[in-house]
Amino acid sequence: MMKHPPMEHAASAIDFEHPPADPMTAFRRWFDAAHEATTLPNPNAMSIATVDPDGRPSVRVVLCRGIDDRGLVFYTNRQSRKGEALRAHPRACANFHWDPLDRQVRIEGSVTHATEAESDAYWESRPRENRVNACASQQSRPVATRAALEEAVREFEARFEGKPIPRPPHWGGFRIALERIEFWQGHRHRLHDRMAYLRTGDGTWTCTRLSP
Ligand SMILES: Cc1cc2nc3c(=O)[nH]c(=O)nc-3n(C[C@H](O)[C@H](O)[C@H](O)COP(=O)(O)O)c2cc1C
Repeated sequence: MMKHPPMEHAASAIDFEHPPADPMTAFRRWFDAAHEATTLPNPNAMSIATVDPDGRPSVRVVLCRGIDDRGLVFYTNRQSRKGEALRAHPRACANFHWDPLDRQVRIEGSVTHATEAESDAYWESRPRENRVNACASQQSRPVATRAALEEAVREFEARFEGKPIPRPPHWGGFRIALERIEFWQGHRHRLHDRMAYLRTGDGTWTCTRLSP
């Protein structure tokens, strides 16, 4: 059965013949539609590609927790594999795939730390259990058994019982700057629409239609 964007999503369609001057106008329209017009459990999920210190690519899914003109923000353990990769090569590529809408967006740019205030605010917004687990888990490092992981959580809980759980210095946000943004809309028989925005030196955007 061939796939094509269902009619009810026409409201959030982008006019690829007359693209908006600012790609974030289009991105927000699609991002909002992914939340409002689909039953995707994590419409803010994005695959983040990085380059490991030895030059190998690696990719994983994270949740996009902030979007503005400065970029996309996600939160993680900065001592994780992705954290080590970003320390060595501070650039990333994020890919959103909203299958029910037959849409994909790819965003590329250099990566910086989110501000301390942003990381603190997001940390405080998380349930206590999540904060405990984030502290107890040495993300991406070997752990012998599930029992060992749960024991580390229990130890941490005992140590911090009745006390606030401070954000570890190695846990926080990364921001991917908006340097290249590409939109993909699936169509019948693979005659898809694509366009890529590139940020120019003066901060404005150029937009180029691409063959599917
Ligand atoms: C839907 C989904 C959302 C996730 N969100 C996050 C996230 O926001 N931050 C995070 O550190 N890991 C998140 N993960 C786990 C990552 O995919 C990954 O396993 C982890 O961050 C370790 O990656 P690394 O070893 O490449 O650093 C998520 C996984 C899935 C499937």
